[in-house]
Amino acid sequence: MWSMVKVPVFQILGFILLSSFLHSQASVRHHTFVVEDTPYTRLCSTKNILTVNGQFPGPTLYVKKGDTIIVDVYNKANYNITIHWHGVKQPRNPWSDGPEYITQCPIRSGERFSQKIILSDEEGTLWWHAHSDWSRATVHGAVVIYPNQNHNKGSGYPFPKPHADVPIIFSEWWKKDIVEVYNEFQRTGTDPNISDAYTINGQPGHLYPCSKSDTYKLTVDQGKTYLLRLINAAVEDILFFAIANHQLTVVGTDSSYTKPLKTDYITISPGQTIDVLLETNQPPSHYYMAARVYSSAEGVDFDNTTTTAMLQYNIGNNTTPPSNPPLPYLPFYNDTKASVNFTGKLRSLANEDHPIDVPVNISSKLIFTVSVNTFPCENDSCLGPTRLSASMNNISFSLPSTDILKAYYNNISGVYGSQFPSKPPLVFNFTAEDPPTYLNTPKKGTEVRVVEYNSTVEIVLQGTNLLAGTDHPMHLHGYSFYVVGWGFGNFDKEKDPLGYNLVDPPLQNTIAVPKNGWAAIRFKANNPGVWFMHCHLDRHQTWGMDMAFIVKNGQGPDEQMLPPPSYMPPC
Ligand code: C2O
Ligand code: CU
Repeated sequence: MWSMVKVPVFQILGFILLSSFLHSQASVRHHTFVVEDTPYTRLCSTKNILTVNGQFPGPTLYVKKGDTIIVDVYNKANYNITIHWHGVKQPRNPWSDGPEYITQCPIRSGERFSQKIILSDEEGTLWWHAHSDWSRATVHGAVVIYPNQNHNKGSGYPFPKPHADVPIIFSEWWKKDIVEVYNEFQRTGTDPNISDAYTINGQPGHLYPCSKSDTYKLTVDQGKTYLLRLINAAVEDILFFAIANHQLTVVGTDSSYTKPLKTDYITISPGQTIDVLLETNQPPSHYYMAARVYSSAEGVDFDNTTTTAMLQYNIGNNTTPPSNPPLPYLPFYNDTKASVNFTGKLRSLANEDHPIDVPVNISSKLIFTVSVNTFPCENDSCLGPTRLSASMNNISFSLPSTDILKAYYNNISGVYGSQFPSKPPLVFNFTAEDPPTYLNTPKKGTEVRVVEYNSTVEIVLQGTNLLAGTDHPMHLHGYSFYVVGWGFGNFDKEKDPLGYNLVDPPLQNTIAVPKNGWAAIRFKANNPGVWFMHCHLDRHQTWGMDMAFIVKNGQGPDEQMLPPPSYMPPC
């Protein structure tokens, strides 16, 4: 009998102490990501893909604004892997950011790495993905960030609480193993093989041969409002998306709320997330949602297929679904106007609850060109006389063989240089029809740009027409930035800043620099660490359209990088 069991007082005390310890630990939630090879069948062929926990797309992380979580990543696959939390700023904690050879060395087969994910002001939708070769093709998933429960104003959303919310992840499917696609791309020095399908939540949809059953279906009730969390996880392509007969209301992008924007279609860059409200206000029936490419590069092959999913209203028993549900209208594949018309309309909420703090006095004015280039092909190592490459400010970034963060933190020399230029070293008519071909060959290097803590940074990202002008979805780690301006042609440093939006510019972590144009972004460098910046089209990233910032520590104790965790994967 319980009453007869005598428990010494110190044991009871110990139990109380232990349980309160467990309780405080319980506020940091732990997740386990097992990276492994998993057979998947799409388009009637089966192959092994890399997954997390056997799922494609991978598991959704549900968090609240300001949470910190731990993800234990186990690599049970035969390849190196790293995981990046795209858009999570990780204040003072670059150690868990994830880009391979920038902030860590890869997690090798059979090893594990425990990553601490620190959220701060992000709210809405982000995502996570592999950041090692092209494994992010299948290793990715959503991060859903709910309002903080302590929020005392209504639902915590800047709009009525939606009836339900649904991650919608766009992705790309190759019949071949993505490792083979990558290796062949490296071997030939040419553009990669185009994908065989796009997918919505892992399914290509009705319009592909042999894919009738591989369709994502979203069942809804009439007369409700749903929050769709759109994520473009495609490897190589910007996409247009729409739902037949339904208008969408954009309410957020890249984990920051926006002014409501009603639209018939959206443009979404790889890396970008867009939150939209969908009102189920149409006659109960079935409607297609669809996505297809926006590709502006002339003469560059692309996957011209259309992925679909089904929006199906709950219908009473006696109605049969239509045999040919309507398809939505989507802009033409090279309609740059349609692309910028959407992206250029995004605005921050900029209200009392969601104020903006766009820097006005700029201490570090930078101009970076983003170009596609070529190198001469050495020792017949590729298909043609040249090998495609890419650059920022004429430097084609080479990954070091040990990570920049460790080298910086431990003062190890010879890993990287600090000479990334503040402006284009070669000045020419960047957006001329045919810039001179002698400009095609960049330099190679591993150069970073060092900035002081709390400096206010403006970067004008200037596209060039070297080789093939196209849109470049540029992404910065560790920060969100305000997109204060964009335009076509060459940036004019006298005139263009006069048109900047400093009132309600959208706060993003990825911005598509338009073909033949530029985009200007601003942020305050208040997050010390090593932060990667690159094009989110993986072929451009691999070719060298990358650089990194080192943001120095500030003076105060809260302005310094956290110490590294006790275990970092070794090189
Ligand atoms: Cu979405 Cu460097 O990453
Ligand atoms: Cu690019």
